[in-house]
Amino acid sequence: MTQYPRKKNPARIRPSRFDRLLRPIHSWVWDDPRRRARKLLRFAETEADGGRDLCRAAELTSDALLRRLYLRHASDEQRHADLFRKRGRALIRSLPRGAETSFEANWFAPGERGLDDVRVDGENDASLLAFLHLSEKAAAGRFTLYQEVLGEDPETQAVFRTILRDEVFHMTYTHQQLTRVAPRKWSADLWKGRMGRLWKAYLRVAAAVAGLLGTLMLLLQYALFLPPFAWLAKRKARREPEGWFPPRRGTPIRSQY
Ligand SMILES: [Fe+2]
Ligand SMILES: [Fe+2]
Repeated sequence: MTQYPRKKNPARIRPSRFDRLLRPIHSWVWDDPRRRARKLLRFAETEADGGRDLCRAAELTSDALLRRLYLRHASDEQRHADLFRKRGRALIRSLPRGAETSFEANWFAPGERGLDDVRVDGENDASLLAFLHLSEKAAAGRFTLYQEVLGEDPETQAVFRTILRDEVFHMTYTHQQLTRVAPRKWSADLWKGRMGRLWKAYLRVAAAVAGLLGTLMLLLQYALFLPPFAWLAKRKARREPEGWFPPRRGTPIRSQY
């Protein structure tokens, strides 16, 4: 079987400045064990989904080395999904039955985002590698931060530590392969990938803001328009006679209206 390069001491990964700035929020997000468990299960779905997309990428590429690397990458992501799922379930089992925490703060702590919306069909090798490299780099930074804030839960911390080693490998091999398949324009491909990620981030924020504004508008409508209508309906009801009463003059007898 082909052996792939894997660094024994992976490069020190630093979370992005934005994530470092939000560190107190990340600590708060991961502090609640119930939310932690739900997030791990959600991460498991993302990783498994990414693994399936990478299998598809392996089918589509005509480059034999890339095919082997994508398959290796896919099996890593599947293993990550199993690790997250196992730990998430163990956490849930260890908790007393109680109220569910529905807020997962996926905005702040999205896991291996990028793998969830990778589109392998219609991409060429270079653009897919650029996309994967940026996603893996962002994931490695985030997992480093999650690992740091999980000091209270050494078992979950160990899961992130194990997965992080693979993410660093994914980040490195995708960059190496990008420079191999696109030696002259790999930098442009990376910039294009960055712009695509920025656009998706903008769409995510815009959708969230639109959802918030929609909720506010509905609340305002309920608060401003409903009370006068309720008051008018009650006033009208008070004027209606109670019980059975003969039809008012002018009421057509062939119809109830
Ligand atoms: Fe992963
Ligand atoms: Fe990965």
